[in-house]
Amino acid sequence: MSRRPRAFSRVRRRLLAALPLAALATRAALAQRNAGPYVPTPWPIVDAMLALAGVHADDFLIDLGCGDGRLVITAARRFGARGYGVDIDPELVKLAQANAVEAGVAARVRFEERDLFETDIRAATVLTLYLLPHIVTDLVPRILEQMPAGARVVSHDYALAPWPHDEEIAFDVPEKELVSGTTFTRLYRYVVPARIGGEWRLELPGAQPARLSVRQRGWRATAAVASERRTAEVDEIVIRGASVRILLPPVGPDGARTQLEGRLRGDTLEGDVVAPRGRGAWRAVRLQPPRGQPKPQERQRKRLAAGGEPQ
Ligand SMILES: C[S@@+](CC[C@H](N)C(=O)[O-])C[C@H]1O[C@@H](n2cnc3c(N)ncnc32)[C@H](O)[C@@H]1O
Repeated sequence: MSRRPRAFSRVRRRLLAALPLAALATRAALAQRNAGPYVPTPWPIVDAMLALAGVHADDFLIDLGCGDGRLVITAARRFGARGYGVDIDPELVKLAQANAVEAGVAARVRFEERDLFETDIRAATVLTLYLLPHIVTDLVPRILEQMPAGARVVSHDYALAPWPHDEEIAFDVPEKELVSGTTFTRLYRYVVPARIGGEWRLELPGAQPARLSVRQRGWRATAAVASERRTAEVDEIVIRGASVRILLPPVGPDGARTQLEGRLRGDTLEGDVVAPRGRGAWRAVRLQPPRGQPKPQERQRKRLAAGGEPQ
């Protein structure tokens, strides 16, 4: 394991009684703005969280309630990532800043005294959380709205219910007993789904184009496919990051269901027909975004007007 900056040892003084994080929540901690007491994530769990998130040099990691900055700093030092941490405790923010300097990563990370409920998370490709269970749950709508598709969220001990996790690992960490009164640790990983709501022109090999209407709320989506002859609900549509799997309703005399797998690139979904027998490439082009969202051309116009790059 890599060397930990000496300043980290100072936090030992701050360790709270040996109780699980949720049990440490005092009446005050349950007040609207307090997302949890300071309980640092033990180092082996820091390592496991970053590994589960698959952090790499291109990532921008945000830790909401960053404590002494250990997740952000370790991601920068070990993987070359950039990062940002916020905490409501000004002393912890100063400690995190000092730790970043000591670790030699001050140019790549930033810490601010800020309420996590008022922190913009749009830039995060990785979000780490060690907060009270009801707080992580409350954050789900904002994560799904603000974070880019494919971004990963790793939560220490508490699930972001009801959002189904992508992966879960459980293990024992003896060092955790000192800070949390238990060695038991669970980590949950989530991948922000692509936004695929709207009207699409669906092109399947050997078939007339059809219209695919997708209704999406967070990670859940339903869809209908309409051809000249009929309209039918799609049997299943699953979104994992930028990947999409669509199980079309049965067509033809054998009643076989066609399964499509693909990825979203801009306003095009494309991939392969994988079942029943794999029949080449398919694609769908978005004609109309879901109500309340600008059309693709309109987004492009706004992006260019704002000095952005064309896509
Ligand atoms: C359990 S600690 C986790 C610290 C760090 N993320 C880690 O894993 O080592 C929770 C942190 O959230 C901070 N916190 C609580 N409510 C907050 C809020 N509303 N905005 C920002 N930080 C908050 C606390 O000060 C504390 O440092």
